[in-house]
Amino acid sequence: MTDHTAIRGPFLTFHADPFTVDPIEAVTHQPDGLILCKDGIITAVGAWDDLKDQIPQGITVDHYPNHLISAGMVDTHVHYPQLPVIASYGEQLLEWLETYVFPAEARYADITYARQIARTFLNELLRVGTTTAAVYCTVHPESVEAFFEESDRLNTCMIAGKVLMDRNAPENLRDTAQSGYDQSAALIDRWHGRGRQLYAVTPRFAPTSTPEQLDLAGSLLATRPDLFMQTHLLENQSEIEWVKELFPNRASYLDVYDKAGLLRPRAILAHGVHAQEEDFQRCHNTGCSIAHCPGSNQFLGSGSFPLFNALKPERRVKIGIGSDVGAGPSLSLLQVLSDGYKVAQGLGTKLHPAQGLWLATAGGAHSLGLEHQIGAIKPGLHADLCVFDPSATPLGKIRTQTAESLSDILFALTMLGDDRSVQATYVAGRKLHSRD
Ligand code: GUN
Ligand code: ZN
Repeated sequence: MTDHTAIRGPFLTFHADPFTVDPIEAVTHQPDGLILCKDGIITAVGAWDDLKDQIPQGITVDHYPNHLISAGMVDTHVHYPQLPVIASYGEQLLEWLETYVFPAEARYADITYARQIARTFLNELLRVGTTTAAVYCTVHPESVEAFFEESDRLNTCMIAGKVLMDRNAPENLRDTAQSGYDQSAALIDRWHGRGRQLYAVTPRFAPTSTPEQLDLAGSLLATRPDLFMQTHLLENQSEIEWVKELFPNRASYLDVYDKAGLLRPRAILAHGVHAQEEDFQRCHNTGCSIAHCPGSNQFLGSGSFPLFNALKPERRVKIGIGSDVGAGPSLSLLQVLSDGYKVAQGLGTKLHPAQGLWLATAGGAHSLGLEHQIGAIKPGLHADLCVFDPSATPLGKIRTQTAESLSDILFALTMLGDDRSVQATYVAGRKLHSRD
């Protein structure tokens, strides 16, 4: 049976890149729009008056006057198993991992527990308007199985992978170079491209993998060009010193990954807070992307990622936005963008709200090589949508009433918004979250 959805209301999407043109000029804004979807795919987009006659007979229209409909948001870096230790006090990266994260991740050998947290996590993503994410599981294949099962049931487009970690971690969280390879290969066979699920080869970060494990991760990637890779890079000073000690023969932290064959399109490097000019050059040349995680970087005291330096036109690096929960204290990309704005201000730069929203939608999709599937409201793309209500809260309402332009409304939304600002979330044309 064909499945039709018709959604009416103000919408916005991007027809250009707001980092290369006047940011607001990159936005397509339709004050009274209609989005038609069939079998999960957007079939027509335009003004209500122009398209209303195309609504199939018998279909009720979901109408959102005074809202702003956007493409669903894309979180390019997040750890679902860390949900139970989100907002844990007082430590920077390495101590935070030892104290809170490793004990929490040890529980995911139990697939029943993994299913329960995966389900909560995916529901929470939808409540904040995120429809695609690049997700770390744990070292246990069960944690991946549970996550993909739950995501497949919802038909969300998710990228995930088993963490590879064969040293410098508690014994119950370690694999070996060979077992990590074999388990990842089996999960790729089972899940990569099944429905909307996509696999990321996931070495946690250089300190917890031997050179053999990183090399095998590279060999695994070499088997298929459409696989993703995710890891952490240049997040924290103590971590950086440790990588120098562990890999004395490598020219830099990034070079550890480079020599293992991990840098290419669809490789996502989280943080890059302390990246230097050569690092940005190399990321540009290899086509890998950086997940900018300002909420997490502030929470752990890691530093300020120089976003506008990374985006320099002559060697521009692909950038997405990451919540990095549990180091990030919120799954809401609106809240992460609010942190991103403040970090940019601290560096003497200005993140325009249209640039922020682009990074969280079309730009994020582009950074993952998924721009032909998600990230915009356009015929042929998946109908993954987020319906914002800028007036959802008393403050949002008072601020929106005084707003003088679309930019102003968007800015207030990204500065003040959170889960309450998401009225509804659609995944492949189906409404999976509604605030009512
Ligand atoms: N580096 C290695 N593992 C992690 C992690 O789980 N979170 C963050 N923020 N950084 C890491
Ligand atoms: Zn992380």
